Amino acid sequence: MADAEDLKRRAAARALEYVTDGMRLGLGTGSTAKHFVALLAERVAGGLKVVGVPTSEQTRAQAQSLGVPLATLDEQPELDLCIDGADEIGPDLALIKGGGAALLREKIVASAAREMIVIADDTKLVAMLGRFPLPIEIVTFGTTATLRRLEGAVVSAGCAGELRLRLSADGKPVITDQGNVIVDAHLGQIPDPRRLARALEEVAGVVEHGLFLGLARRAVLAGADGIRVIERQATA
Ligand code: A5P
Repeated sequence: MADAEDLKRRAAARALEYVTDGMRLGLGTGSTAKHFVALLAERVAGGLKVVGVPTSEQTRAQAQSLGVPLATLDEQPELDLCIDGADEIGPDLALIKGGGAALLREKIVASAAREMIVIADDTKLVAMLGRFPLPIEIVTFGTTATLRRLEGAVVSAGCAGELRLRLSADGKPVITDQGNVIVDAHLGQIPDPRRLARALEEVAGVVEHGLFLGLARRAVLAGADGIRVIERQATA
């Protein structure tokens, strides 16, 4: 039986089939995206011409060390394709992202791409988002006040659960690549992701949240029975 890493690598390998010569690529963050970057580097070594815009310092370091040509988003503000992992994939390819604290740059890069493909093992596919705690990036000023406002916003959007500042192993708040902190909303269920997204966006101090709605066009999912590609239906 394939282990989780093997499934992630298989999804990444299948997604590589969407990459063609000359593409400007958004490079995701996390353990699945790491496989993609490693496989992409092999193709680059074999002559594929692409330029990558990383979604985190972690991905930048990996891609650089493997010889993948890189640019900043300012140098390449329009991308052909963004390939990234996800923490949960729900109906209409709505995603929860940010388990690796890179959601802000991930959302900016995915939004700059004509297409986003999400890669994952198929355990990430869910009927309703919310079991994975929803990451929310907030500024460091007034975190306690922002947390309280966020608690109210969550309830107003029909959700319930505990909100916690994300701490690292040393007990200090996790600081993102943009110098902010992360609140994880342990909601269990998010019946209406759009309503929740709107409510969170209204709270002062919120920089971005990990609900990626209407961004992923395809999901490449690897499971015990093989690879499945799910496409989001275009909305009228
Ligand atoms: C990083 O902030 C996240 O959005 C990741 O893309 C997400 O957590 C998926 O990571 P894995 O591929 O490691 O599960």
